[in-house]
Amino acid sequence: MTLSVADVNAALAQVQDPDLKKSVADLGMVKDVVITGGHVGFTFDLRGISRGGAQRRHKLGADARAVVGALEGVTSVEVKWDDEVPARTPAADDPLPTVKNVILVMSGKGGVGKSTTATNLALALKRAGNRVGLLDADIYGPSIPTMLGVTGKPVSLDGKLIEPLERFGVRLMSIGFLLEDPRAAVIWRGPMLTGALQQFLKDVNWGELDYLILDLPPGTGDVALTLSQRLKSTGAIVVTTPQPVATDDVYKSVSMCQKVNIPILGVVENMSYFIDSAGVRHDLFGKGGGKAIADFAGAPLLGQIPIDQSVREWGDKGTPVVQAAPFSPIAKSFVEIAERLADRIAEMAGGGEEPGDAGPVIDRSGGTGRKRLPLAK
Ligand SMILES: Nc1ncnc2c1ncn2[C@@H]1O[C@H](COP(=O)(O)OP(=O)(O)OP(=O)(O)O)[C@@H](O)[C@H]1O
Ligand SMILES: [Mg+2]
Repeated sequence: MTLSVADVNAALAQVQDPDLKKSVADLGMVKDVVITGGHVGFTFDLRGISRGGAQRRHKLGADARAVVGALEGVTSVEVKWDDEVPARTPAADDPLPTVKNVILVMSGKGGVGKSTTATNLALALKRAGNRVGLLDADIYGPSIPTMLGVTGKPVSLDGKLIEPLERFGVRLMSIGFLLEDPRAAVIWRGPMLTGALQQFLKDVNWGELDYLILDLPPGTGDVALTLSQRLKSTGAIVVTTPQPVATDDVYKSVSMCQKVNIPILGVVENMSYFIDSAGVRHDLFGKGGGKAIADFAGAPLLGQIPIDQSVREWGDKGTPVVQAAPFSPIAKSFVEIAERLADRIAEMAGGGEEPGDAGPVIDRSGGTGRKRLPLAK
């Protein structure tokens, strides 16, 4: 009997991913099966966040070698790994050509946890072995200096590019680093804001990054528009809280992204519920907002984050909870969101979805083509 690719795939279907607890066949992780006489080679696609775990690779590799090696006629087995983080395709004038993915964290609503999500996701991605930068695009209300406990002043080594600051291995830039008095208000008009943002993209020495996370100010204003015109981002994460008063505004950020052709990578529902000391769950802000926004956006709900005092406390102390208490349940909820995000980016890249390929989409239907916002429940 000659060995076929189908035989190899059938054997590998018995191998379970130790992290995701599913068959590697169901997860679509096996590719490039090559049979040359008795030699079998194949590649595990590990382009999600969990790619870094040595133990996972060890187990996957050993199990795969065992089942394939047991097939009749197999004399040797070669396992390869594809763990490249997929990259967007930057335009010729892109200000960040060495940055593989640019991710905007946004919301039409203030105070829903954009900065908290952006910092914790950046750290979760970093801790999984990625090269990560975090840009505070909130010029009027920068939060990154406080949330990451950074007060230094950036310097320029060559008189041209500004060196980002670094904390927990994440490269950082914020207008807060450049102000003499961090409590002073920035009184700038739109064009100056746009100029500062462009400088943060173009004149900061970000270097090679797998992910640059942008923490956007609330609303659907200048910043997102400027960004959509200046670069092809990988996409946006939309943050909401569950109640209609928040979701009403958040629909607008989804609609804005759709108009300027920023793909929505997913939705994060923050402050979803509260577990009291007796273990009882309270839906303080109601239910269902995240799911409703995700449905409207046609994107996955990446996760729900409960209200947890430690999130606020660690944020105020300058060490986000993912770094301070990485194995706590609350940190895990951020880590899982980062995993789903990385997987979603890999899936979109694998499916040939090109972020921001066309220019902004302009609705010239005179209003008839406008999408109706779903009514809040
Ligand atoms: N899940 C949570 N549990 C407890 N506190 C939280 C949670 N998420 C955020 N917070 C706290 O709520 C406050 C607002 O969060 P954050 O600054 O991240 O919101 P934001 O959307 O970035 O706000 P802004 O619109 O002002 O930029 C912060 O003090 C933060 O620590
Ligand atoms: Mg913020």
